Amino acid sequence: MFDAYRMSALDTRAVHAGREDLAALGVHVPPIDFSTTNPLPSVTAGGDAYELLAGGGTPGESTSAVYQRLWNPTVGRFEQALAELESAAASVAFASGMAALTAALLAATRDGRRHVVAVRPLYGGTDHVLATGLLGTTVTWATPDEVAAAIRADTALVIAETPANPSLDLVDIAALAAAAGDVPLLIDNTVATPVLQQPLRHGAALVLHSATKSIGGHGDVLAGVVACDEQWAARLRQVRAVTGAVLHPLGAYLLHRGLQTLPLRVRAQQAGAQKLAAWLGGHPGVTAVHYPGTAGGQHLIGRQMTGTGSLLAFEVDGGAAAAAAVADGCALITHAVSLGGVDTLIQHPASLTHRPVEGAAKPAAGLLRLSVGLEDPEDLRVDLARALTAVS
Ligand SMILES: Cc1ncc(COP(=O)(O)O)c(C=O)c1O
Repeated sequence: MFDAYRMSALDTRAVHAGREDLAALGVHVPPIDFSTTNPLPSVTAGGDAYELLAGGGTPGESTSAVYQRLWNPTVGRFEQALAELESAAASVAFASGMAALTAALLAATRDGRRHVVAVRPLYGGTDHVLATGLLGTTVTWATPDEVAAAIRADTALVIAETPANPSLDLVDIAALAAAAGDVPLLIDNTVATPVLQQPLRHGAALVLHSATKSIGGHGDVLAGVVACDEQWAARLRQVRAVTGAVLHPLGAYLLHRGLQTLPLRVRAQQAGAQKLAAWLGGHPGVTAVHYPGTAGGQHLIGRQMTGTGSLLAFEVDGGAAAAAAVADGCALITHAVSLGGVDTLIQHPASLTHRPVEGAAKPAAGLLRLSVGLEDPEDLRVDLARALTAVS
């Protein structure tokens, strides 16, 4: 029964993953365990459990969770479900996407290897952490074609985002993994979600999500997660236990619930984004539309990504002032950062999400990012048309 279920379609797994034992527990939804500390059967058993969990292991059925920073069963359920959707052996959840990235960098940069090769564009926070070397890393920025040459003896990690935020550029994950060779490849899969793309299938070692976005989907949970093999997961859990950037059990419950509707939401939001991308492309006030597959990488749609997603960006003439006027002119669409949720959001990356990005890597001044939600696309079009009168 379990094997047959594991082979089932993604939509089925999204509904049932991490819930296999609920019927035996006599409940229909996962229980939320809020305990920060857990009773210890004995000093010896408590010590053994501590040793296991602090070392990155996972508890058996009768192992005490000891302390919430080491393990929480509600978080564990979400991790199991997310791993199944990413075709991963395991996943490790964190308090935010940036906490997940921090843990991945700390877990990867061991044994004196502190060099990272990164493909721009990346989310502004990721770019900032790498550019400043805040976590003790050094970075070489490379185009996908330059990655192989940029690898050094002390390279610990290759990082890329596809589709990239906010350019929606696509990177060929299999080609990048080949270029990285023995160096592990981390792909930020936040924009695609596991519904449209599973990077481990194409050779990535680590898949990162800001679960704050589509996975939660309702703008009410800040979280991050890394999907990977069990060896990486143990290292990440070790880092999490030490740094304390744990996900709260209520957040994990909401994310686990969010996974059940993720495939439906992603496809419905994608349908709206496709309509709006096509309409914006014909608008006289819009000078460029960025949407997966429109600026190269078409061959990856179908092979690497099963769809084009719900995020798009467009450029208006008149730079930052014109873009600000459009963002301010939206009424139904909320002017706010974040993406992937049920409501449509517009924002100006150069001023906000990508503010810390320096030089030529900074998004264009006239670029606006639109995260398309579940509203009727015609209502969104009318709102955008009104806002775009500012530039047309
Ligand atoms: C692609 C991407 N990766 C990582 C992050 C960071 O995630 P969080 O805001 O959950 O820390 C974000 C946030 O916007 C993002 O868009």
